[in-house]
Amino acid sequence: MSTTEEDVPQAESSRRSGEKSRGNRAANGAKTGESKEGKVKDSDFYFNFYASLQNQANMIGDIARTGTYRKAILGNAEVAFRDKNVLDLGAGSGILSFMSAQAGAKQVIALEASSMADKLDIMIKQSDRGEANPHFKNKIRLVKGMVENPKVQQDVLRTGKVDTIISEPIGVMLLHERMVESFLLARDLFLKPDGQLLPSGGSIFFSPFTDEGLFMETEQKAQFFNQELFGTDFRALYDEARKEAFAQPIVGMFPPPSLVSSACPPKVFDFYDAKMADLHEFTVDVDFVIHRTALVHGLASWFDLAFTPRPPPSTPASTQAELEAWDFSVGSSAQTWPWMQAENPLNPANPPPAPKGGLDVQLSTGPNVPRTHWQQARLLLPEPLAANKGERVIGSIHFKVNDARSYDITLDICIDRPGPEHNPNPLRRHAEYNLSQQCFNYSYNPDVVAGANVFGA
Ligand SMILES: C[S@@+](CC[C@H](N)C(=O)[O-])C[C@H]1O[C@@H](n2cnc3c(N)ncnc32)[C@H](O)[C@@H]1O
Repeated sequence: MSTTEEDVPQAESSRRSGEKSRGNRAANGAKTGESKEGKVKDSDFYFNFYASLQNQANMIGDIARTGTYRKAILGNAEVAFRDKNVLDLGAGSGILSFMSAQAGAKQVIALEASSMADKLDIMIKQSDRGEANPHFKNKIRLVKGMVENPKVQQDVLRTGKVDTIISEPIGVMLLHERMVESFLLARDLFLKPDGQLLPSGGSIFFSPFTDEGLFMETEQKAQFFNQELFGTDFRALYDEARKEAFAQPIVGMFPPPSLVSSACPPKVFDFYDAKMADLHEFTVDVDFVIHRTALVHGLASWFDLAFTPRPPPSTPASTQAELEAWDFSVGSSAQTWPWMQAENPLNPANPPPAPKGGLDVQLSTGPNVPRTHWQQARLLLPEPLAANKGERVIGSIHFKVNDARSYDITLDICIDRPGPEHNPNPLRRHAEYNLSQQCFNYSYNPDVVAGANVFGA
């Protein structure tokens, strides 16, 4: 097994702490859009990331992610793929286009903005020449460019609107990278009125956590400037260094027992109905009951992705037997290449017949399920909040898009208890974050803790 960027071994964790996540190395300071000539300019940095086969491999090799997509595509073959025209928005390596062809699509338009399109072209042409992969011979039409480009839009529409759009436009905390906006644009431009959108929606969850070690590690970074260095007093920069360190969302897994409350109802986005403005700025109200007396060091976050088909009412419902045949989980993070390559009960080479009325599939990235390359994100409070068992912590998290293909996040929470109203208020916390400035932390890896054999032998 090759070691991937996102599959960093435990021993490397501290050295690599502070790295940027997927799309992030590419996103800093990058603006979306194209020049008048239709040439990608500002987004070059972002698309260079996706032009790398190694980075595409990291995504394909995320078993929970790609296995769930396979289940959602093959399980919905009857309602969304067989004899249908499909658009794969942001095709990358083409993996979802190939799966769509396996599910019986009549034609797949593989739309890709990065130069990964040229590599995908090699596979498409090889198949069209009859040299490999007969399942997509003459079925995939490559369109290179950004979906935002009018010329690209015309090219997609050359064969009319599509029955289904498949895409993986998801980033850390669901929306980082802002590709969901491109997904909604594709929906508005290309999807037939009763067409299918996969994924169909996403939900962002929050829950308070306690983690003294993470807090101290972050404080320690700021402390670097709280001293004399090479004969110069840097203490004037300490407050700024602290602000910067705590404004970085921490991306990585964490032990589920560090949560001190259940997640409150998530912020739900229905991709069929969501408007662009819904993604540009929104607020999530939070309300938690603390399970055990603790110092709350911040809010942990994860997301679920829904693949819920919406076939026309005339479609026969899926039978119990059809659904039960698909009642298998897509594998754990401890299983890697053998899972993808060989015949495996969790990833059958010949899956059961697709249910006639479709299959509802969910992908969770929460702390209690197999790891994905998105992992989870934590928003650290610059000062922890002492909360007693049974108390309510209430407040809001405000998201506003920024020009780094990401979001500025503002957190306001307080303990719901009568108390002083002066500043600083011991019961209230206000904090600001930039979702593009992620800091990786690999100090916890459940597979290593469990002693799992990642080679799947
Ligand atoms: C997260 S990757 C998914 C790749 C592949 N579909 C998969 O599931 O492995 C998203 C892909 O969409 C492409 N992309 C992002 N924004 C795009 C846009 N506005 N128009 C066309 N392609 C875009 C990126 O270059 C990248 O290859």
